Amino acid sequence: MQPAFYVFSGTGNSLWAARRMAHHLGEGRIEGMAHYRDAKVVKPDSLVVGLFFPLYVMGLPLLVEEFIARLDLSDVEYVFAVMTSGPVLSRAMTDLRKLLKSKGEWLASGFRLKVVNNYIALFKIPPLDEQKHIFAQADQKLKTAAKQVRDRLHSVETTSWPVRIPGLITHPIWKRHVRAADRKFTVSDACTSCGLCAQVCPVDNIKLVDGKPRWLHHCEECLACLHFCPPEAIDFGPKTLGKTRYHHAEVSANDLIALK
Ligand SMILES: Cc1cc2nc3c(=O)[nH]c(=O)nc-3n(C[C@H](O)[C@H](O)[C@H](O)COP(=O)(O)O)c2cc1C
Ligand code: SF4
Ligand code: SF4
Repeated sequence: MQPAFYVFSGTGNSLWAARRMAHHLGEGRIEGMAHYRDAKVVKPDSLVVGLFFPLYVMGLPLLVEEFIARLDLSDVEYVFAVMTSGPVLSRAMTDLRKLLKSKGEWLASGFRLKVVNNYIALFKIPPLDEQKHIFAQADQKLKTAAKQVRDRLHSVETTSWPVRIPGLITHPIWKRHVRAADRKFTVSDACTSCGLCAQVCPVDNIKLVDGKPRWLHHCEECLACLHFCPPEAIDFGPKTLGKTRYHHAEVSANDLIALK
């Protein structure tokens, strides 16, 4: 049985990482974590499980935490994780390890992949040639990671405790408010009522009312709706106004919709 790769991805970086890992390993079946959000238990039928997800406010996305809580890894022999993020170091890999340990499971390997930061309220999207360079470096790291996974080695990239402190404060606050963070979304007159924002939302948190998106307050803050809106009609507060939108160059909206 092929390794099972479970992916959560808003703008494609983590899906790209899963694809490249499958390429380097020569095998890997990719599924969306969001697909299982109504399942009581998720029991992989593979001996190797990979978790691919982004870093959110120096911690794990809520959906990832909830997915892991429902994972039954009793028949799994090797669990690894690939976390994509911008340049910020965090406590997330330590949190993931603890989360799995509390379920009696072991995180064998954990890799942090520095890629493009899609949080445009705070960061700027680099030009395409710089993106290419960033992902070429990330791919090299994935190649080495694949060897580690193939050889079933154990090594988790964690951070030192001073680096973990900011996340200890900011992540719980973010978590408390994330579901309703979608109140910050606005939609401009440029909206063409195409419905792509609703389709690409991994957790169906958007419905179209009179042709315009309405957010339903069970948001993950993945920003897929904002980044994929064709006329760039969606903003997340004043700081995203006029900023370049982003998704991984090799990942389309349809690729992400297929993960639901
Ligand atoms: C809500 C949110 C919070 C984020 N927080 C961080 C962070 O604390 N540190 C960081 O380096 N990147 C942060 N990022 C950037 C993402 O981790 C990064 O762009 C990731 O690769 C996106 O993955 P995806 O394309 O699979 O959704 C954040 C992005 C979002 C949407
Ligand atoms: S994706 Fe953009 S244009 Fe399409 S319905 Fe949503 S807000 Fe409107
Ligand atoms: S509403 Fe937008 S930001 Fe929230 S989960 Fe859906 S796509 Fe992501």
